[in-house]
Amino acid sequence: MPTNGPQLAAPVPARNAQFPWNEFAAVDYCDHNYLKLREDDKEILELVSRWFAQEMGKRSAGDAIDVGAGPNLYPSLAMLPHSRTMTLREYSTSNVEFLRAQTADLPERWGPFWDVVSPGARHGDLGKARALLAERVRVEQGSVFDLPHSSWDLGTMFFVAESISQDPAEFESAVGRFVRALRPGSPFAAAFMEQSDGYDVAGVRFPATPVGRREVRACLGALSTDLKVERVEMRPAPLRAGYTGMIVAVGRAL
Ligand SMILES: C[S@@+](CC[C@H](N)C(=O)[O-])C[C@H]1O[C@@H](n2cnc3c(N)ncnc32)[C@H](O)[C@@H]1O
Repeated sequence: MPTNGPQLAAPVPARNAQFPWNEFAAVDYCDHNYLKLREDDKEILELVSRWFAQEMGKRSAGDAIDVGAGPNLYPSLAMLPHSRTMTLREYSTSNVEFLRAQTADLPERWGPFWDVVSPGARHGDLGKARALLAERVRVEQGSVFDLPHSSWDLGTMFFVAESISQDPAEFESAVGRFVRALRPGSPFAAAFMEQSDGYDVAGVRFPATPVGRREVRACLGALSTDLKVERVEMRPAPLRAGYTGMIVAVGRAL
């Protein structure tokens, strides 16, 4: 039925390029999220470590990539036993500097995370992880949207595709660029904040696209085989307001 009143325009979702990524406060973010190993992150790390061990146990070590690595080293630690080189691709200057310092001399704080990947020092102790990271990692400044195709053998992308834009088209594009950056058959793991409405880092607001298992499955299903998508309850307490849990997906690139 026609109406005579003023029409409300749908709000335009803010895009990746509109946010001040170089002002991302790496230390604040890392302390807030990863000072202690949370139960939910532990569950994700266990699942992802098992997945890479299962898949990479059948093949020789490969070239690994973590996309939008930011101030989080645990996806890299999960891939470390199975990598011969590791690229940490990150967009923000502040996060690139943080990653270069942390991977040159891995701080003790990552010990509990490494113990999940390497129980009973199966893949060596933290000193060994520190030496391997320093030897294998190359931190590279760049965007997920410019990743080359078919260039890596295993990959992770944690809390990036849904946490860099409000535009669902950019969420889908980031997921697509990540999976297509892997050689066919390569195992990957991706994690997402569930139904996030954005987040603050040291007082600066960053965007999100609210997604659930359905959107993750729809997007990754077309790009992968053996896809598993799991929901992880927030534990012990929410990290912040404005999300409902976490989602982790593992699979193999088509
Ligand atoms: C919510 S943080 C996630 C960081 C980290 N992966 C983690 O697990 O906590 C989002 C990250 O995406 C990065 N980012 C923003 N735009 C990007 C882009 N176009 N390409 C790659 N990374 C981007 C940010 O700098 C930030 O490090």
